[in-house]
Order: sequence, then structure tokens, then C-alpha cells
Amino acid sequence: MLLLIILIPLLSLLFFFFFFLNSNSNSNSKVPKSYPLVGSFFAFLANRKRPLPWLSGIMQVSPSAIFVLRRNYSTRQVFSGNPAVVEHILKTNFSNYGKGHVFNRTLTDFLGHGIFNIDGDTWKFQRQVSSHELNTKSLRKFIETVVDTELSDRLIPILSSAAKQGTVLDFQDILQRFAFDNICKIAFGFDPAYLLPSLPQAKFALTFEDGVRISSERFSAVHPVVWKFKKLLNIGSEKRLKNAISEVREFALNMIKEKKQRLGENESLDSLDLLSRFLSSGHLDENFVTDIVISFILAGRDTTSAALTWFFWLLWKNPEIESEILNEINEKSESPVFDEVKDMVYTHASLCESMRLYPPVPIDSKEAVNDDVLPGGTVVKKGMRVIYFPYAMGRLEMLWGSDWAEFKPERWL
Ligand code: HEM
Ligand SMILES: *[C@@H]1O[C@H](CO)[C@@H](O)[C@H](O)[C@H]1NC(C)=O
Ligand SMILES: *[C@@H]1O[C@H](CO)[C@@H](O)[C@H](O)[C@H]1NC(C)=O
Ligand SMILES: *[C@@H]1O[C@H](CO)[C@@H](O)[C@H](O)[C@H]1NC(C)=O
Ligand SMILES: *[C@@H]1O[C@H](CO)[C@@H](O)[C@H](O)[C@H]1NC(C)=O
Repeated sequence: MLLLIILIPLLSLLFFFFFFLNSNSNSNSKVPKSYPLVGSFFAFLANRKRPLPWLSGIMQVSPSAIFVLRRNYSTRQVFSGNPAVVEHILKTNFSNYGKGHVFNRTLTDFLGHGIFNIDGDTWKFQRQVSSHELNTKSLRKFIETVVDTELSDRLIPILSSAAKQGTVLDFQDILQRFAFDNICKIAFGFDPAYLLPSLPQAKFALTFEDGVRISSERFSAVHPVVWKFKKLLNIGSEKRLKNAISEVREFALNMIKEKKQRLGENESLDSLDLLSRFLSSGHLDENFVTDIVISFILAGRDTTSAALTWFFWLLWKNPEIESEILNEINEKSESPVFDEVKDMVYTHASLCESMRLYPPVPIDSKEAVNDDVLPGGTVVKKGMRVIYFPYAMGRLEMLWGSDWAEFKPERWL
């Protein structure tokens, strides 16, 4: 009885809050309602397994492609697909939008002080050294040595033999192996030999995969307390994460020791991988260079393989575009590999178009260092997350016109 006396007013109060005090003025049905105390928490929970279509649906009906979501009572997040806003946070006011606490807390176990997980001077230094790795000259050298070898010795033979024998391959898996070999050679001059006809279970690749997967699952925990508690007790996924991280680090550390030794014996190392570059610039702290290598592998691994997987999937669905690309390749395949790809404008446009619809990094976020006002007037408070959203941007009529859903490379020409 006492319970009822307490419960009835409480329930009516909640009912009142939920249905009459709807604090969200936007009446569009796609925009999740925000309630006092809980914000849009339940809408978030309901769409936890399909966040991209859910959030981009909201983006499509939001004026100026910007909306603010209340994760819960205390936390608001800005989602933006508006190009002026994206330019503001990534360029114009770059220094005000850092990686922030959520990233730090969630990813430090795996990424340490690698480029993906830091701001400020350490970031700037890593960025400068890494950008040498991505300038035209280094890129050219890598395409002509690393990527070309991986293509001609591994990818093409595997595909030709499958074609000849009529075997079915998991192409996404093949492309992930391809990307992993390439990025490891670029990051630390090590060949994991993951793309072999036997499709081996390469240990380094698999533990790296585990580390990435479990770390990113932390983001979708109902509350961070859940994974922190598991970590504290060293159970379940957190126990597996701990093992994966220590295996990846031990592996990288051995590579680094070996490389340092060779660097000590030789005056200079003529290899161009990122690790040699850091070591030769005098950065010999093993934990620090391990962090750097791990971030770099993460950066290049899934991105390139996801881009290629969607690209080939779209070509399979659009045979007329495939033959257009084949024509261009046949016409322009005379010069050295790096020069010939520069002239392939239609192929280039098709890759851009593919990444418009299926961007390898579909959503990414920053945290405001100080209060700011975004172009268009949205107010950002210190500590708020500002999320830019390539997946939704590729689906905006205001940017691409009413045929945004079509795969049309021509729009880039
Ligand atoms: C299709 C392929 C790729 C896509 C779509 C892509 C996309 C991105 C995006 C969206 C970011 C985050 C930028 C930010 O929010 O500040 C990023 C960062 C980064 N990417 Fe890529 N990436 C790709 C391939 C690669 C490759 C192959 C490498 C290395 C060889 C690489 C190295 C990096 C590094 C080092 C960062 C960190 C930059 C920083 O924090 O300053 N990426 N990439
Ligand atoms: C609200 O959500 C944010 C982001 O998920 C979280 O960090 C914060 O702890 C939550 N606040 C409360 C009061 O639950
Ligand atoms: C993450 O936290 C560590 C220590 O807790 C700090 O040294 C580092 O600067 C933080 N990084 C960011 C990006 O906030
Ligand atoms: C020094 O480097 C060259 C190639 O740059 C290599 O062939 C040689 O074995 C190295 N010497 C030692 C002692 O490691
Ligand atoms: C950038 O952000 C700061 C807050 O750190 C703000 O005071 C300033 O007005 C912003 N600059 C621009 C160009 O919007």
C-alpha cells in the first residue's frame, strides 16, 4: 500500500514529463524527442545497433544539416553535415576542437599516445613526421615498391587462380589482408604475409583486429561504467582486450628493438618506413614509437580496405561504369604505374563517388576546448562533442541534388 502511495504520484509525474513537457520544439517525426532528465537516451538505446541510418535520417530533415542531440540530461552533442561547419571545426578553428576526454578514456589502453589519441605539441610533432610519409615522393616510392609488389606477387595471382578454378573468395577478407600487408610495410617495414593463397591466420593481424574491435565496442556500451567494471575485474571482453594489447605491443616492441639494433650498426638506414623515420630523428623511446606505429596501422588498415570493398561492390552493381573504367585503364596503361593512375580521371571520379556513398570513416567527432559559435549560429559549450558526419553528407539533397542516391561518377568530372 505504501509502495502504491509513493508509486502513483511518481508515475504520473513521469507520464507528465514524458508526454506534456516535450522540450523538443521540432515536430518532425524523425527527430528524436528529448525528455527532461533522460534527453533522447531511449531513442539512442533503441537505435544503438544501427546508428548511421538513424542519425543520417535525422540529418536529412534538419534545417542546414545540423542538429543537437541530448544524449541524456547533462550531455548535448552537435551533429553536423553542413560544409561550413565542418570546415570551421577541422580547419578555421581547428585549435578549438580536440580529441577530448571520451576518446582519451576509451582508447588510451590500445592507442597510448599515438597520433589518433593526442592533441597539442605531441600531436604536432607526430603529424609533421608522419606527413613526410604521405608526401608525393614517399607515396610514389611506396606505390612503386610496396604496393606494386603486393599486387603482382600476391593479390593478382590469388584472384587469377580463383578465376581460373571458379572458386569463391571472400573479397572483403582478401582486401583486408592486402591493406594490412601494405600498411605494416609502410608503418614499420615488416611484412606480416597475411595475403597468401592459404589465407593464413597471421597472429599479429588477428590480435590487432581483436584490439580494434573490443576497443571500439567500448563506445557502444550503455554506460562507460560497464566496461570499466569489467576491466577492473579483468573479465570477459576486457580480459581479451588486455591480452590482445599486450601481444600487439610485445610484437611491435620486438620489431623496434631489431630495427634499433640495425640502425646502431649502420650509419643510416635507407628504408623509408615510418618507424625508421622516427628512430632516425632521434626518438628512441620504445613505448612512444610503439604507440606511433599502432595508430598508423589503425589509420591505414580498415580505411583502404573498406574503400576498396565498397568500390568493387558498386562496380558489380553498375556494370556500365565498370566497362567505362576498364576502357580508361586499357587506354592509359603505358607509363609507369604512378604516372598512369594520375591520368585516370574517370577511375578517380568513381573512387570519389564510391567514398561519397560509403565513406570509410563515416562519422568522426571532436570536443570543444572553449565556448564557441558555429557558422549558422549553433552555440557550442566547452566540453561539448561536435560530430562531423561524412556518411550523412553524402546523402544530403542540398549538396548533391535529388539524385544523391545514385552512383554517378560523372558528378565529379
Ligand atoms: C581511403 C582511405 C582513408 C580515409 C578515408 C582516411 C580518412 C581519415 C580521416 C577521416 C581521418 C581523421 C581526420 C580528423 O578528424 O582529424 C584520418 C586521420 C589519419 N589518417 Fe587517414 N584515411 C585513409 C587512409 C589512410 C592511410 C593509408 C594512412 C597511412 C598511410 C592514413 C593515415 C592517417 C593518419 C596518420 C591520421 C591521423 C591524423 C591526425 O590525427 O592528425 N590514412 N584519416
Ligand atoms: C551522459 O552521456 C555521456 C556520453 O555518453 C556520458 O559520458 C555521461 O556520463 C552521461 N551522463 C549521465 C548523467 O549519465
Ligand atoms: C589523455 O589523458 C592523459 C592522462 O590522463 C593526458 O596525458 C593526455 O594529454 C590526454 N590526452 C588528451 C587528448 O586529452
Ligand atoms: C647495413 O645496411 C645494409 C643495407 O642498407 C645491409 O645490407 C647490411 O647488412 C647492414 N649491415 C649491418 C651490419 O647490419
Ligand atoms: C574559435 O574558438 C574560440 C574559442 O576557443 C573563439 O573565441 C573564436 O571566436 C573562434 N574563432 C573563430 C574564427 O570562429
